[in-house]
Amino acid sequence: MLTVAVLISGAGSNLRALLEAAAEPDFPARVIVVGADREADGFGHAEYFGIPTFLVPFEQFDSREAWGAELGAQLAVWQPDLVVLSGLMRLLPADLVAAWSPRIINTHPAYLPEFPGAHGVRDALAAGVDQTGASVILVDAGVDSGPILAQERVPVLPGDDEHALHDRIKPVERRLLIDVVRRVATGDLDLAAAARASAP
Ligand code: GAR
Repeated sequence: MLTVAVLISGAGSNLRALLEAAAEPDFPARVIVVGADREADGFGHAEYFGIPTFLVPFEQFDSREAWGAELGAQLAVWQPDLVVLSGLMRLLPADLVAAWSPRIINTHPAYLPEFPGAHGVRDALAAGVDQTGASVILVDAGVDSGPILAQERVPVLPGDDEHALHDRIKPVERRLLIDVVRRVATGDLDLAAAARASAP
């Protein structure tokens, strides 16, 4: 059984979907802990499923590195097989990424490498594209720049605002995330091989 730590910043709707999937008896992974950089609403989903949580408030640290060191210490307590960034809206320090790579993945509401960063949905709308998407990637030291593990297109419809478009992307994102976690757990997806395949 693959053990998973999920890191969030916000509502945790993707976390919720993963918790629901993991509650199915035949799902090959389980979430063992949920962490956040702020008092995230998504903690409510962890509590509902009886999953422990930890909070490492970003603003209480002098530097990203100090924050990342504490985050790493918390993860080390739980020793998950996989770390899932599910709406964690912070760039992790490079040493933390190096410590967990390739066992750390991220979801993003755009068809990477299009529209990386904190406003993937807004940026796609601003660019006037007629399709965007959802991606699940390996985390590297850059901003949403790691190797792509799964992605799917989502159309931009006339009249879409950021909220409507994000609401249509999220179900796709959830499905991709759950599928990637399942494939990692069953061995169908080898994260080390995916990292090697895209190494320069
Ligand atoms: C998700 O769409 C996730 O991809 C995005 O934040 C949302 C979190 O929603 N993350 C990023 O944009 C990271 N660059 P949730 O808290 O309801 O799961």
